[in-house]
Amino acid sequence: MDTKHEQIVAHMIREVERGHIRSGHKLPSVRALAKMFSCSPNTVVRAYQTLERDDVIYPVPKSGYYLVEGRGPASARTESEPIDFASTTPRGDFLPFQEMEHCLRKAISLYKEELFGYTDPQGIFSLRNELSRYFHAQQMFAKPDQIAVVTGAQQAFSILTRMPFPGEGRAVLVEQPTYFGFLAAARVAGCPVIGIHRDEHGIDLEVLESYFRSGQIKLFYTVPRFLNPLGTSYSLEQKRRIADLARQYDVYIVEDDYLADLEEDSKADPLYTLDQSDHVIYVKSFSKTILPGIRMGAVLLPDRLLDPFIRHKNAADISSPILSQGALELYIKSGMYKRHAARIREHYREKMRYAIEICARVFGSGIHYTCPSSGVFITIRPPQYVKASALQDRLLQRGISVTNVDRHLLPENQRNDRIRLCIIGVEKPRIEAGMIVIEEEIRRLERRMR
Ligand SMILES: Cc1ncc(COP(=O)(O)O)c(C=O)c1O
Repeated sequence: MDTKHEQIVAHMIREVERGHIRSGHKLPSVRALAKMFSCSPNTVVRAYQTLERDDVIYPVPKSGYYLVEGRGPASARTESEPIDFASTTPRGDFLPFQEMEHCLRKAISLYKEELFGYTDPQGIFSLRNELSRYFHAQQMFAKPDQIAVVTGAQQAFSILTRMPFPGEGRAVLVEQPTYFGFLAAARVAGCPVIGIHRDEHGIDLEVLESYFRSGQIKLFYTVPRFLNPLGTSYSLEQKRRIADLARQYDVYIVEDDYLADLEEDSKADPLYTLDQSDHVIYVKSFSKTILPGIRMGAVLLPDRLLDPFIRHKNAADISSPILSQGALELYIKSGMYKRHAARIREHYREKMRYAIEICARVFGSGIHYTCPSSGVFITIRPPQYVKASALQDRLLQRGISVTNVDRHLLPENQRNDRIRLCIIGVEKPRIEAGMIVIEEEIRRLERRMR
């Protein structure tokens, strides 16, 4: 049985969907709803706060709550308003802008002296210390000396693809599909890149072993959870096997855990915690949870790789900006980060559940989609006659942006057969509206191609 809070949220969403409440209209008073649901006014206020966070309603001081402009029955909106399933940046109002503004202001006064000079290429010690405590709480026992602060995870990829590694291997091994930002870094670094097929079930560990055994691999780049674009994650057992193979064949692994904060399963340990032999380089990004513009990331490095990494970091930009470092330190230290992470975890979990429900309802036979329980990505594979690029073009004409999964594949693996949807910045009613149009366009193209 749903709680009163959930019942009120569901009731209000139904009212909006049915068009009983219109954009700019005032919502029922807290008192009226409390009476209707036989609950306390506090429960109604909490339900309204949830809807406010989801950008469905907004408060007007001394007046009440109103429906956000553009909300209303899903079918009434799709043609006129663009829906952006391509962007991977959270919506502005869901990012902790004000909290960060506060931390940045504090950082200016706290680190005034440092602004007049250069700081440690590895990152200021106080931030690394804070990060070390943060990672400890997640069973990742890196000391401040084993952590490097980077200007976004992307800088870590750029450095790792360029810097020398022990051993003979020169090629980087990547999952197919994988994050295109890493592919770009490897390309400009001039690294040979080899792909290993990954689908919602994972990778073939025997194939992985044969690559590791070949001696040609410098590092294996993997996104164990919420892979961009598939959205799926490895099981604990798969991660254990990958860590074992890395030890056995002395191959380094770059673990990109960019969406770690969305994890709900407390037992879903990162590869880093399963590594007994110092072969995992753990990369954390703060872009999806805080603000992409602060360009902050962190890398946990095996001792052997610390020196070359920091030399390359120094050569790249001397150090990451002190204000971003100081603000991040304050944001974590104050407990704001933990609170915000819990908030977004709940928000995206709910949104993903909803999106998967809609997929099941809207997509009929012949349309396959990945079904992650959490995260922000879904991929859709239309029937074979329908090309992803044609679908992408048609959708764009109807105001819907999606990404062709080919962007995440090496040229030899591109099939033009799937699109990726990112739900990070799309609100619930618009997810449904968008999916309905996607299904319509797939069917239209299917009829035409037959
Ligand atoms: C898999 C993956 N890793 C890392 C990043 C971004 O990292 P950063 O903004 O910290 O450079 C992204 C951004 O979309 C991503 O999808």
